Order: sequence, then structure tokens, then C-alpha cells
Amino acid sequence: MRTTALVGAVLWGGSATAAEVSIFCSSAGAELELCQSASEAWAKETGNTVKINKMPANWGEALPLYQQLLAGKSGDIDVLTLDNIWVGALASHLVDLNEKVPKEELSAHFEAALADSTIEGKLLAMPWFVDAGLMFYRKDLLEKYGKAEPKTWAELTETAKSIQEQERAAGTKDMWGYVWQGRAYEGLTCDALEWVASYGGGTFIAPDGTITANNPKAVEALDLARSWIGGISPEGVLNYDEEGSRGVFEAGNSVFHRNWGYVWGTSQAEGSSLLGKVGVMALPVGAEGEKSSGCYGAGLLGVSKYADDTDAAVSLVRYLTNAKEQKRRAMQGYSPTLKALYQDAEILAKNPSLRFAEKAYAESASRPSQVTGASYNRVSQRIFNGVHNVLSGKESAPDALAKVSSDLERLKKRGW
Ligand code: GLC
Repeated sequence: MRTTALVGAVLWGGSATAAEVSIFCSSAGAELELCQSASEAWAKETGNTVKINKMPANWGEALPLYQQLLAGKSGDIDVLTLDNIWVGALASHLVDLNEKVPKEELSAHFEAALADSTIEGKLLAMPWFVDAGLMFYRKDLLEKYGKAEPKTWAELTETAKSIQEQERAAGTKDMWGYVWQGRAYEGLTCDALEWVASYGGGTFIAPDGTITANNPKAVEALDLARSWIGGISPEGVLNYDEEGSRGVFEAGNSVFHRNWGYVWGTSQAEGSSLLGKVGVMALPVGAEGEKSSGCYGAGLLGVSKYADDTDAAVSLVRYLTNAKEQKRRAMQGYSPTLKALYQDAEILAKNPSLRFAEKAYAESASRPSQVTGASYNRVSQRIFNGVHNVLSGKESAPDALAKVSSDLERLKKRGW
């Protein structure tokens, strides 16, 4: 045991004596299996043990849980799977990895991914995978009805409606045109930001802190989304998160589906009824000349300052973010943060969504989490509640956006 621990320690750092490291893994898509199997492989290789904890399926519930555990300086949480928008809120509890991870290992990652988790010069989490909202669609159905990939949201609406109607008339009664994330939670902030930004209506709050939420292009974008409910999207979309909407698409009941890259892996997994029938593209734009504006997201791994054995926890993080592991994940649809893997022929053959990744990342739109820091969660709540009110018909888009805007101004006045 001790010899193995030493070999692992040489490769991944960590202590010579065996430690137990507790990690929180996500459970969306293939995440839990991937996170668990890799953590166990690390444990075996290094002679340590690992305890796997499941994050709440809804990522929005994970942040308060982390905050509670970390505020209590709990030793039950050593390594945390993090959303890029949480780094500001958890900053004071996370280890600075600049001091723990060799420079050459860091520089293999996209600079933007490192910058995203760096606050005041401290690298508070290691990049693990990057995400941008993508559009999945039924290639077989578009071909069947002679439709091209839609370039604008208006074209998508039209194509979705036409195929939905024809499929229903042909007997597929449960067919819908488009499923996405309409529940009042973080995922809706992402979807709404994509609609608005791709119309040229900004990102609710500009990077310099200017509040831009209330503008005619944002109204136009939300009005179109509102028109989908009960038309090309089921009423139930108002309660869908990523997994709920994926379930409808993968059951064969929707033509289009907005989600993150992992859906390539799940929909093309062995045994999937959609094998070979799915296409993936950057999101449509609101108007010609605008950017596709997929919401930027990233999965990160952070280490708690209260970890019993910081070096062992860092060792696990380095193992999970290394090239071999990121490649294994890329084969299942998770986009790597290591530049070199975007040239890897084997990955590109298995995961064509990566071909769009560069365009999707280059055109991605970021949520205003850097400028609003620890208050981002509150900011996002104002946004998704306002948007949800529009979608469910409780408020008109101009009224809701005016209210969101004045709420955000109030938060800003208090220093966020
Ligand atoms: C995905 C993204 C994350 C985002 C979340 C919203 O997990 O990676 O950035 O906040 O979805 O539901």
C-alpha cells in the first residue's frame, strides 16, 4: 500500500501517507459515473481512499449546500465540483491552486478558462470542462421534411412548427418542436441570456456593471420565447431543467433541443433510440449579423481550505483534470479545457460537437457573475423570475424587464 501511495504521490503530488478525500460529484448525464470511476482509479493508483458525495441534481441547490458546509468549516467536503458562476461566492473558502499545481500543467489549459476562476490573482479552481449552450436537433426529421439547419430563431420556430404538425398528422401525437429549460432557476437565466444576447440585446448587466436589461431587443427576444409556450414547446417546459428537457428529446418527442455538450454523449450512447439521428449546431441568432451567444458555463474543481489533507485533495483534482481523464470525458461529450485535445482525431471522430465548440465558445455570452461577485445568485434570481413571469403570461415583457432593471439598479446601489 505504502509503495503504491508513493508512486501515486510522485505522479500527482499528495502525501506519502494514505488519506481519505471526500468529493462532491454532479449527477447530470454521465457525470456521476465518470466522476466516481475516475476518483476511484486515483484512489487505487495513489493508495488513498475516496468518498463520493452526490451534488443535488439541480445545481442551484448545490451552492447553498456548499456555503453551509464551508461556513461550518466542515471536513466532510474536500473537493468540490463547481459552476464557474460560484467562484466569487465561495472565494474565501477555496485553496489558491497557483501555489499547488505546477506551472506547465496550468498553461496547457485555455487561458480564458484559467482567468475565469482567478480572483485577485488567486486560482481558486481548476478548469475541468467548458460548456456553451448548443442546439441539438433531429437530423433525420429535418432531412425527411427537406429543411435546412435554421440560422435564426424565427427560422427555428417555423421549422419546428412545420415538422411538429406533420409528424403529429402522421401519428406521432407526442411530438413537439422545441424543448429547453424554462423552470425558474439558473438554467433559465442561461437560456434567456442566449435569446437576448443573440438579438443584440446585451447580457442584462454589461461587464462594466451598466444595467442593460430593459431594451427593445430584449423585449423582442422574450416575446418570441413566450410565443413558443403551448405552440412548439409544451406548457411543461416552464418546469423543465436540463434533465427534464433532455428526457423529452431523447424519448424521441422533440425536433430541437437546447442543452449543453453532454447531450451528445447521452443521445449517442449505445442503446439510445436516437443513435445516428442527431445533429448539433451553434444556437441560432436573433437577427442576421448577430452572434450565436451560447451561454458560457464551465465545470471546475475546487479544494476546500478545511480539507483534512490539502495535498491529497489537490492530487485528486490534478488527476481528474489531466489529459487522459479529460480525453475519456471528451469521448462522452464533455468539452475539454486542455487546448491540445481539440486536435485529437480520436476525440473529434467520437464527439463532433467539439467541431462547433470553437465557434460556440468564441461567440459565447457570459453571465454577469464577475462584476456582481458574491451577489450573482441574487441577480440571477431577479432575472429568471422576471423571465419566467413573461413566459407564463403573468407579466408583459416590457413590464417584467422594467422591474428586473429597477431591482438590479437597487442591488447595484447597495454595492451588489
Ligand atoms: C450547466 C452549466 C452551468 C450552468 C448550469 C445551469 O451545468 O455548466 O454553468 O450554471 O448548467 O443549469
